Amino acid sequence: MKNNLILETAHLLLSKYITSEDIMVDATMGNGYDTVFLAEHSKFVYAFDIQDQALEETRKLIEKNDITNVTLIKDSHENILNYVSEFKGVVFNLGYLPNGDKNITTKKDITLKTIQTLLPVLKKDGFILIVVYTGHDQGIEESNGLNDYFKSIDQNTYKVLRTDLPFQDNKPPFIYFILKVKDESN
Ligand SMILES: C[S@@+](CC[C@H](N)C(=O)[O-])C[C@H]1O[C@@H](n2cnc3c(N)ncnc32)[C@H](O)[C@@H]1O
Repeated sequence: MKNNLILETAHLLLSKYITSEDIMVDATMGNGYDTVFLAEHSKFVYAFDIQDQALEETRKLIEKNDITNVTLIKDSHENILNYVSEFKGVVFNLGYLPNGDKNITTKKDITLKTIQTLLPVLKKDGFILIVVYTGHDQGIEESNGLNDYFKSIDQNTYKVLRTDLPFQDNKPPFIYFILKVKDESN
């Protein structure tokens, strides 16, 4: 995590918006770094991943950090609402598990479907934070799909922030932070 300006910025945004009373969702637990960060800043975290390896690595990390306010769920983030219906925010760190199987990666259609399902459920001041990687083919597709979708959502209900490192050659990740600024019914 050190010297990673994008992940540090993601954590800065999260620490600004999360309170110790909030329920948070980690949609892609991976090695558990975001899960631990969220657990340290919120009341409770529901963390999802489709791989046993992710659950094993995250379990080790939360034990090492004496963290108990987390439930690890082996399921796709498409099914988040089957487990939790009220939360302040959801964090996605897209792509594949570092040091894992590069073929098991988040996919455009599933990621978009999940985000389209979650946005209406957010309350005012709720948010979705997404770290997007474009260094691999699936990631480019996913990034383009998200870009097209976020262009189309209601600008009065959602503010879409994008933070990137535009002049780096090595295709670093970038952040989308979608903040719900009013309830849909208002
Ligand atoms: C870049 S890693 C996440 C890194 C993690 N946030 C961390 O702090 O270590 C992406 C993870 O997304 C998981 N993933 C892929 N498709 C998924 C899905 N449909 N639902 C949940 N997790 C998924 C992969 O198994 C992988 O572990």
